[in-house]
Amino acid sequence: MTEALGEASGKVILLGEHAVVYGAPALAAGIERGARARATRCSGASALRLGGRELRAAPAEEDVARAFAALLGALPDVGPVRVEAESDLPPGGGLGSSAALGVAIARSVAALAPAPAAAAVTDAAAAWERVFHGNPSGIDTTAAARGGCFRFTRAHGATSIAPRDDLWLCVGSTGVSSSTRIMVELVARLFERKPTLAATSIAGITALVENAALAIEAGDVVGLGRLMDLNQMLLAGMFVSTEAIEALCKLAREAGALGAKITGAGGGGSVIALLPPPGGGATSNVAADRVLAAWRDAGYSGFVTRV
Ligand code: MEV
Repeated sequence: MTEALGEASGKVILLGEHAVVYGAPALAAGIERGARARATRCSGASALRLGGRELRAAPAEEDVARAFAALLGALPDVGPVRVEAESDLPPGGGLGSSAALGVAIARSVAALAPAPAAAAVTDAAAAWERVFHGNPSGIDTTAAARGGCFRFTRAHGATSIAPRDDLWLCVGSTGVSSSTRIMVELVARLFERKPTLAATSIAGITALVENAALAIEAGDVVGLGRLMDLNQMLLAGMFVSTEAIEALCKLAREAGALGAKITGAGGGGSVIALLPPPGGGATSNVAADRVLAAWRDAGYSGFVTRV
């Protein structure tokens, strides 16, 4: 084979971001938007074409080139490859863009290997992600690789959760790109200075996550929405919320959302708003239209997705 394709999903974190870095559970789900890659055998040095630029795999250079080198180093050697990759997730948007790219690229390259290399794909995507995020919990690459709805811990990985009904979410963008690495470091510094805040935040978020898993399985969307609002309060108490995030959440709740919160690292990026389900197997949701219109009127963009 001289050419192979790879794909991966973006993600939303339903509850539990940041605490998951410290071993607490979190709930996440893959979304339809994601990343795609095409790997082609070539002569000369391996290269990655991304965002209109072509970079050599180079351990000493900028992040993307270093990440590509780390990713290739964790895969079976397939010789020099040229990879073209694209994502329909905004970078720094809290929707797992870099993890989706890492998994899609790793899958495309691994598909050129003579034997299946699924475990190496996971390691390669994790090596890519570490260059951008320093201390990732692994939830983003897990969501990118498996999609679906799941509970995740650092120690035990992912366990599937079966929502009784589809969860309808609006995803709203603050329009501000944020760095997961910087936000994770900010929380680490806060937790070092305030160990009591760290312990109570992590314990509080753990309880909310466990209740939310039950609410999802029971189809209790009203309960789930309240738990998301409470999670947002704890995240705000960890200083990862911003005025734009709070505005998006408030607009969504006023327009009929059952709950709203940051998804991902915060400091910008995106929020998710949980909507009342339309019922009767409908394929559109009036509540989603209202939330998206409220965001649009206030100058924010968003889209609707189903888990
Ligand atoms: C980022 O999508 C989620 C964080 O919890 C970081 C991580 O888990 O690696 C903020």
